[in-house]
Amino acid sequence: MNLYERPVLFAIASVVVISVGTLVTTFIPLFMPSTQPVSRYIKPYTAIELEGRDIYIREGCNNCHTQTVRPLRTEVARYGEYSKPEEFAYDRPFLWGSRRTGPDLARVGGKYPDAWHYRHTVDPQGMFAKSNMPAYRWLAEKKLSTDYTAKKVAVLGYGYGPEEVARQIDAFRLQVADPNFPAANQRALVTPGPVRGEITELDTLVAYLQKLGRDVKELEKRSLERK
Ligand code: HEC
Repeated sequence: MNLYERPVLFAIASVVVISVGTLVTTFIPLFMPSTQPVSRYIKPYTAIELEGRDIYIREGCNNCHTQTVRPLRTEVARYGEYSKPEEFAYDRPFLWGSRRTGPDLARVGGKYPDAWHYRHTVDPQGMFAKSNMPAYRWLAEKKLSTDYTAKKVAVLGYGYGPEEVARQIDAFRLQVADPNFPAANQRALVTPGPVRGEITELDTLVAYLQKLGRDVKELEKRSLERK
């Protein structure tokens, strides 16, 4: 019997062989610990950072900005240490992106003070005349909805409960509305009076941007100290 002369049998045999291949190369590694590295330095998002991340996704920032530094000399020189798998342990979905209309943001946390982001997000052309980044003015005008925050944190399994979510939200509101908040002047310039005492969507977006790559920088600092 020649398999090549029996099309139906040949099709079935191909499906079986390909399925075994898929199982071995895709599904088995999915459950192997070595493909899911964790680092104790990489911390889950706070409730506020998570909301900021959702706004980043909603506004489509990832269509122009990647969040992955490739192991290429030019990229490492520009952005810092290249991305490692464990950095994305809490990213669902990940936001690696593919278009680099704007700079990569994987290491933007701590690069600028909060005030810089309040100004830039609302009016990029005010800082860089030729920037083609849209101005996101409405983010400073909209009060953050926290209706689903606790539910999202629970679904993503960040390891803290609704009381902690409520505590973080209250603490953050006090922090941004405080006249001594380091970015208070710039925030007041872009935030309309009635929402100044509230958490705006822009507040959470800035908190999220400041988190990007922060844990990795901490990790690098520690490993330098050990040397
Ligand atoms: C149409 C493409 C585009 C979109 C959409 C876009 N950006 Fe940008 N972004 C740029 C460009 C181009 C630059 C570089 C010029 C500048 O700083 O304005 C930039 C710069 C930045 C920087 C400074 C990065 C650095 O290292 O200096 C940040 C932070 C940033 N964008 C955040 C955002 C956020 C947050 C959003 C979504 C709310 C967003 N961008 C949406 C194109 C875009």
